[in-house]
Amino acid sequence: MDDGMETAVYQQQIAELQTKINQLEQQVADYQQLEKKLQWLATFPEQNPNMVIETDLLGRPTYMNREARSRFPELQQQGPGHPLLRGLRPIIASFVDTGQEYVAREIDTGDAVLEEKVCYTLDGEVYRVRIYAHDITARKRAEEAIQEMARRIVLAQEEERQRISRELHDEAGQALTALKIGLEIIQGEVPAGEEGLRQNLAEAIALTDTTRDRIRQLARGLRPPALDTVGLNLTLEDFCYNFSRRTQMAISYEGTPHLRLQDASTICLYRVLQEALTNVAKHAQASHVQVRLWADETAVHLSIADDGVGFVGQTAVARLHSAGLGILGMHERVELLGGHLEIQSTLAQGTRLVAHLPLIEAQAER
Ligand SMILES: Nc1ncnc2c1ncn2[C@@H]1O[C@H](COP(=O)(O)OP(=O)(O)OP(=O)(O)O)[C@@H](O)[C@H]1O
Ligand SMILES: [Mg+2]
Repeated sequence: MDDGMETAVYQQQIAELQTKINQLEQQVADYQQLEKKLQWLATFPEQNPNMVIETDLLGRPTYMNREARSRFPELQQQGPGHPLLRGLRPIIASFVDTGQEYVAREIDTGDAVLEEKVCYTLDGEVYRVRIYAHDITARKRAEEAIQEMARRIVLAQEEERQRISRELHDEAGQALTALKIGLEIIQGEVPAGEEGLRQNLAEAIALTDTTRDRIRQLARGLRPPALDTVGLNLTLEDFCYNFSRRTQMAISYEGTPHLRLQDASTICLYRVLQEALTNVAKHAQASHVQVRLWADETAVHLSIADDGVGFVGQTAVARLHSAGLGILGMHERVELLGGHLEIQSTLAQGTRLVAHLPLIEAQAER
């Protein structure tokens, strides 16, 4: 090989090596960038304004981010006994057994309410439990305040209705009766030939009658006296019958006789039926409503099911912003007596509302 050729070969080799070096340099740069990205990603839990806690499968903390460390500095030392980590074992067992990936739960530490998302993650070769927690105390307290307000409204409304109902019956009703008697006396003393006056008096008497009837109806609507006389079952049946007549909506009623409930329970169920049927008439566009009242050993139940348009459920806060107080009021009435209200609604299929009240019989109250 002459010198010229040798130089050319070397030059070629150098050029190839240079290309390789360039490629390697590029790779190193890529790796460096990747590492930077990984470091950046690793800071995520640290920067997270919510708490991030990692534990091993025995629920012992292995990592806490900045927020968790500052909110619960004692957590690391207390370990699985800490309120945030209590009850983790069965959750971890369910992760292992069922392959479920996360569980959401609420934790009340006494001072604060936290919403937790507990996840099952694989960290390299090791399984870990990762908990994301954030403080929902303010929302919870707001919801409690709403409930308390609604409870007060319900109580005040019921008291006010009873008072107005009594006033209407006792005061206005009696006064109209007295007025009618007075008018009849005058009518008896109208001299012959005063036909015009007699006619006017007859009209005034008829007006006192219709006014008295209207007032009675109003008082009855405020607190139906039938509740005290014929009892809940017949009162509800009668209400359904009248409501159906007024609204032209088909309502079938299936009740249960011989129920003797405490006064507060009968009023509560009556109001639930009133509001539920009003809602059906206002919102559901239903063609049929089925009302059922039944009892078992421990509870009395009232269900109102329609085949109307249905609706999508709302949270307490969302309800506060909507104009309606009806559903909130029903919840409060029922919960005030230790019961609960269930609402199932499916769009285009209808709504079923059930009130469950613990059975406290009339005698037990006295
Ligand atoms: N049976 C039903 N079918 C369809 N939608 C319903 C039914 N009951 C309730 N809703 C929906 O739920 C909302 C809340 O009902 P809620 O009784 O609380 O308020 P409202 O009836 O609108 O007002 P208010 O009862 O205070 O007069 C209604 O506005 C309506 O959209
Ligand atoms: Mg309503």
